[in-house]
Order: sequence, then C-alpha cells, then structure tokens
Amino acid sequence: MGKIGLFFGSDEGNTERVAYRIQKRLGEDVVDVMDIADVTQLEFADYDKIILGILTWDFGQIQSDWEEFWDDIAAVDFSGKTVALFGLGDQFGYGDYFLDAMGMLHDVIIQSGPDIVGHWPTAGYEFDASKAEIPGTGMFVGLALDEDQQEDLSADRLNRWCVQIHREFGLTTPITELED
Ligand SMILES: Cc1cc2nc3c(=O)[nH]c(=O)nc-3n(C[C@H](O)[C@H](O)[C@H](O)COP(=O)(O)O)c2cc1C
Repeated sequence: MGKIGLFFGSDEGNTERVAYRIQKRLGEDVVDVMDIADVTQLEFADYDKIILGILTWDFGQIQSDWEEFWDDIAAVDFSGKTVALFGLGDQFGYGDYFLDAMGMLHDVIIQSGPDIVGHWPTAGYEFDASKAEIPGTGMFVGLALDEDQQEDLSADRLNRWCVQIHREFGLTTPITELED
C-alpha cells in the first residue's frame, strides 16, 4: 500500500497540531507528515495520495511557507494523484476571508488534474465569504477547522473527515476515533 504524504504550513502551531491529529487517526505507519518549509517538489513524487494543510492569515493571504513554495507547488504534476485539503481560519475574526488560502491552494493544484476528495459541508460555520467554498454547492473544497472560535468541534470534525477520506482514498488500514 502506498503511504499518504501530508504536507502542512503553520505559523503558530494550530495547523501543525492538526496534521499530527490526522496522522494519529489514520495511523503513523500510513501517513508521513512534512512541513512545507522543509520539502522540495521531489517529495510529492513519492505519493499518490496526498493531504495538504494550510491556514489563512492577514485578510485572505496564504501562509508564508506555502507562499514561498507557491511556484513549486504550481509546477508539481498532480495528475493521477488523489488529494484532500484541510484549512484553518477564524470565521468571526475574518468572516470575509474565511479559509481563503485553502481555496487558493485548491485552485492551483487542480490545474494538473488530481482527483480531489474530502469535500466538507459549509453548514455549521458562520461567514460572509470564502474562496474555499465551491459556489452553489454548500461545500468547502476540504475540511474546515476553526481553532479560534470552534475549537471544541474540531475533534469530532476530524473524526468524521478522517472516516470520509479513509473511504475516498480506498484505505483498508485501521482508523482510530479520538477525543483530542
Ligand atoms: C494576523 C492574523 C490574520 C488572520 N487572517 C485570517 C484570514 O484572513 N482568514 C481566516 O480565515 N483566518 C485568519 N486568521 C486565523 C488563522 O488562520 C487561525 O488562527 C489559524 O488557526 C492559525 O493557524 P496556525 O496556528 O497554524 O498558524 C488570522 C490570524 C491572524 C493571527
């Protein structure tokens, strides 16, 4: 079985912690976790199943390490790969830009035609605008987490999303439900 490569960028640690919370659910021997600040394009070639994690900051901007990697990620060939995204944001503090960076990352990687899994409902969040929302569908392009305003909901959201992508990735390995 091919492993999953999980690539994240994080400023204050929330997105990094979420990366490892996903790894704990899907299995340490199933998911390799890597900081986007420490990788090159080459690491992406090692994985057919990929999870990407990004936070939004400064009114709709992409996280700084992802920003430095932006030309590289645009040049990665995602064709034939299956990709799931997760994003962190603050829906009350930045309701006009909620999770924008996840939407921007999605828009870049779909250029080379991966299969995107892990779409997630917008119900249960309050925001005015988000580039991560797929217009007219009531769905985000990936898992939406808000550690600033809805931290208490994250463990359950992670449990449900991991079950979903476990199925969508076609995994047969054990999955662990956690309350972290
Ligand atoms: C200065 C600043 C600007 C932010 N801008 C946005 C934003 O535009 N949209 C959004 O959804 N969240 C925004 N956030 C919320 C962060 O995305 C959120 O706190 C996230 O959990 C931080 O992740 P990290 O700990 O991995 O850095 C902002 C946070 C800060 C501190």
